[in-house]
Amino acid sequence: MSWRKIYENRLVSAKEAVNKIKSGDRVVTGHAMSEPLILIDEMVKNREQYKDVEIVHMVAMGKSEYTKPEMAPHFRHNALFVGGTTRKAVNERRADYTPCFFTEVPRLFKEGYLPVDVALVQVSRPDEHGYCSFGLSVDYTKPAAECAKLTIAEVNDQMPRTMGNSFIHISEIDYIVETSYPIIELQPPQIGEMERAIGENCAKLIEDGSTLQLGIGAIPDAVLLFLKDKKDLGIHSEMFSDGVVELVEAGVITNKKKTLHRGKMVATFLMGTKRLYDFVNNNPSVEMYPVDYVNNPCVIMQNHKMVSINSCIQVDLMGQVASESIGLRQFSGVGGQVDYVRGASMAEDGKSIIAMPSTAAKGKVSRIVPFLDEGSAVTTSRNDVNYIVTEYGIAELRGKTLKDRGKALIEIAHPDFRTMLRKEWEKRYNCKYQ
Ligand code: COA
Repeated sequence: MSWRKIYENRLVSAKEAVNKIKSGDRVVTGHAMSEPLILIDEMVKNREQYKDVEIVHMVAMGKSEYTKPEMAPHFRHNALFVGGTTRKAVNERRADYTPCFFTEVPRLFKEGYLPVDVALVQVSRPDEHGYCSFGLSVDYTKPAAECAKLTIAEVNDQMPRTMGNSFIHISEIDYIVETSYPIIELQPPQIGEMERAIGENCAKLIEDGSTLQLGIGAIPDAVLLFLKDKKDLGIHSEMFSDGVVELVEAGVITNKKKTLHRGKMVATFLMGTKRLYDFVNNNPSVEMYPVDYVNNPCVIMQNHKMVSINSCIQVDLMGQVASESIGLRQFSGVGGQVDYVRGASMAEDGKSIIAMPSTAAKGKVSRIVPFLDEGSAVTTSRNDVNYIVTEYGIAELRGKTLKDRGKALIEIAHPDFRTMLRKEWEKRYNCKYQ
């Protein structure tokens, strides 16, 4: 049968599609900007027909209405990363959190830890061979669709067609719902003086010819501002955003010196504005792969001069990094932080950077602390940590004793907190700080 015939046969309405979900099913939804908004709205609208449906995902950019208290008999969310729309439910224990490295998520689905009953995804229109692209999120979205008992896809004609290992054939989709709506956009963040200072310090560590992983937000975007005079940078990153497009257009990011996927930018998901989405559409210089490839430290390390830049909540005087919880309050998740810290550390001439403002809560608390808050999860261990950067400078921790790490961190702490930190250091090491 031609793929066009298959396509026609599998076309259903959103209501018919969500009728295929059964009580007790585990439903994995497409990630971040590829969340299938219409299918999720329809599922929530028809909540009375379900009991105990488990909804699994990482970043959700939609409304996440299934986490509301009144949804409890029908849905329970299991977060693999906590975001703005799910944080309250997780911290009120109305939703669960499952710790996991981003690179391992496909294994959870494929190897029976979290078997997938239904994958609800969003894909591009099929090409002339019947292949749809997962577009902005290949990550765990493609692996989930590949191993789900049932795959239901929104085919959105506004989803960009990204290249790489990012396709699914129409014959692999059980039910198709045609949609046409603009992809969610994330506007570039405001960059203040403090972020600029952090960005400038990070940029000092980036040599010409480096391959970069950048997270999302004001700090990564500020780093990009200070890279305009660099040469032949490359991208191998779990995600990237609009700032990268600017540096490609400026001729700074060429990917020419990459030692893996030379000439290509590699990512597993993308978040930004329509400018980014237009840039990646049908662009063979951008390759998207599932996250068990892109974030695998053994793959990352094949990029010489790999530099990873991520952020955190607290660092203690031993260099233990808490990036996902404030005490017992789960704020986000590990995401790809440790995947890249390890991959960059193992790479030839690689560097991993954790960059953060020196204070939080409008300057009231230091992020460099004697002890992590009680209950905080250690995200990047003191054995893995390499560079810590604040607006006050750079602390290189690898190869340093606990005593010297403490000193290096105090030097880049906010001046208001240095006396307190020095006192703690003197008590701990029973000697004068000098
Ligand atoms: N004590 C008390 N409150 C703190 C705090 C601390 N040490 N550190 C942060 N906070 C508060 C902030 O004041 C802020 O509160 P507000 O929203 O009321 O202003 C809130 O927690 C968020 O902190 P902030 O640092 O502004 O968050 P962010 O949006 O810049 O994200 C991380 C920072 C660390 C949470 C984020 O980078 C992350 O989730 N990292 C882990 C995942 C990862 O690295 N993935 C790979 C890259 S995609």
